[in-house]
Amino acid sequence: MAKASATIVAIANQKGGVGKSTTAINLGAGLAFQDEKVLLVDLDPQGNSSSGVGIDRALIDLSTYEVLVGDAAIEDAIEPTSVTGLHVLPATIGLAGAEIELVSLMNRERRLAHALTEAVGEYDFVLVDCPPSLGLLTINGLTAATEVLIPIQCEYYALEGVSQLVSNIQLVRQNVNPQLDIEGVVLTMFDGRTTLSADVVAQVRQHFGDTTYRTIIPRTVRLSEAPSYGEPIEAFDPMSRGAIAYRELAREFRRRHGRS
Ligand SMILES: Nc1ncnc2c1ncn2[C@@H]1O[C@H](COP(=O)(O)OP(=O)(O)O)[C@@H](O)[C@H]1O
Ligand SMILES: [Mg+2]
Repeated sequence: MAKASATIVAIANQKGGVGKSTTAINLGAGLAFQDEKVLLVDLDPQGNSSSGVGIDRALIDLSTYEVLVGDAAIEDAIEPTSVTGLHVLPATIGLAGAEIELVSLMNRERRLAHALTEAVGEYDFVLVDCPPSLGLLTINGLTAATEVLIPIQCEYYALEGVSQLVSNIQLVRQNVNPQLDIEGVVLTMFDGRTTLSADVVAQVRQHFGDTTYRTIIPRTVRLSEAPSYGEPIEAFDPMSRGAIAYRELAREFRRRHGRS
């Protein structure tokens, strides 16, 4: 019997610094620690999710860029990480050029979707860490995915720009990927000392209802330190509040996907 293929989730928000990469790394690792096979696709030229799982970007030979432009097979570019069950398709700054180079290529929106068909049989979940823009790279992520996970930072203007993301998701659904749905919204960098954070939670819950994850990710220094050690929080400091939150997020994610 052919193996079922992975559920592909794009982690997207065109705002930078809202917790996309942190969520991609730590949800990915959390799922792997809970026995799921996970591929993390780094679709951001900044390469934060690659370095965050311990990949030395200077040593990357084949990356998301080569896979998208057709110079490499995806299985040749995927690397293992220090977490059993978590693999990564790493990115380097060279991926920045793809935003322009892809324009003239055939099926420019479907390059990632096409490449992933060769790999999905090996995984339960593929998490695609999108760049902070709504350009062709993000469109490739949204076209490859069946679900979008939107991290929203608990800060002023949290919802600003989200409606633009939602209309882009609708455009992709109408034009290239009718299956695409918003799977969830994750509130990140919650600061319990401020009424602002609580206000944002209420606003987002009002806007997105049950699509919003019950698990809220707190703002903690340990979460911001872990990437410089190339470790997901679960490995870096498993007793920390950030580790507890991402473990719980992975559980909630698995429940929503009928996995427990
Ligand atoms: N919950 C958190 N607590 C503290 N710092 C965080 C948290 N989430 C992310 N950060 C830090 O905030 C910055 C932006 O997060 P990142 O995940 O890279 O956002 P994005 O991928 O959306 O640009 C990074 O320096 C990251 O380490
Ligand atoms: Mg990022």
